[in-house]
Amino acid sequence: MPAVSADDTPDLEARRQAVIDSYRVVCICNKIRRGTIQKAIAAGAASLGDVRRLTRAATGPCKAERCGPRIAEMLALARSPGCGDGAG
Ligand code: FES
Repeated sequence: MPAVSADDTPDLEARRQAVIDSYRVVCICNKIRRGTIQKAIAAGAASLGDVRRLTRAATGPCKAERCGPRIAEMLALARSPGCGDGAG
């Protein structure tokens, strides 16, 4: 069986990085991971309040001071069709 390198399958590296990113903690106070927030957004969460209710992110002692901007950025990216810069 031939070995598969990242050069042979560029999508594989992107998917691998997406999995790694999904495990990164966004809400440090409540240990809520990026993947959990992404699932909430995919399920229809359209605001920080929606994400808060669905995941408990942004409900910790810092009151979303640390995770709020990152969640807002994820919501903005989800709203911008086809690009990640939000311009346009
Ligand atoms: S990091 Fe999310 S509430 Fe503090």
